Amino acid sequence: MELSKTRYKIAVFASGNGSNAENIIRYFRANDCGAEVALVVCNNPKAGVLERAQALGVPYVLLSREDFRLGDVPARELALHGITHIVLAGFLQMIPGSIITSFRGKIVNIHPSLLPKFGGKGMYGHHVHEAVVAAREPVTGITIHHVSEECDGGRIIFQASVEVDPADTARDVETKIHQLEQEHFPRVIAETFFKR
Ligand code: GRF
Repeated sequence: MELSKTRYKIAVFASGNGSNAENIIRYFRANDCGAEVALVVCNNPKAGVLERAQALGVPYVLLSREDFRLGDVPARELALHGITHIVLAGFLQMIPGSIITSFRGKIVNIHPSLLPKFGGKGMYGHHVHEAVVAAREPVTGITIHHVSEECDGGRIIFQASVEVDPADTARDVETKIHQLEQEHFPRVIAETFFKR
């Protein structure tokens, strides 16, 4: 039997398009950090991330709201795939407290604003960019942070910012944010968890 050479196995949790998930999968294939994306966890049967995972040959699991509420099904899936680290990349569902506890220090999230600005309940996806434009913020950005029991409240690891032009729409801001995410997210994960 051939033993896997990767010591660390990442599960990426995503609910939507999955551009970050795909970027992370590709990064860890191209850069030897002793880690790989071994599982995609999704809670939305219509999410683009499922097709991306399939096309890239990464195992994925689709779990229901109820599975997450109870917590033991996700925990079992993570154990089954030998998961050591979790990355939340646009995952729109509360993570069970038992998973946060057992992955303490090994679970990160990306938020599409400069936390603590535009964070908290209801602040996700386009809602964040619409609020940034409505508030006429001159600058916005991304925050990569540890995950704690508090929504968007874990310790901040990294932030990057970008100017908001007065003429920018929420869609324009979203495009700028996606560029920052593509540029920084996988590298920050690697540097946070798998420094050699
Ligand atoms: C990203 O903007 C991320 O910051 C936010 O949700 C979005 C997910 O985009 N939390 P994608 O599904 O990775 O394309």
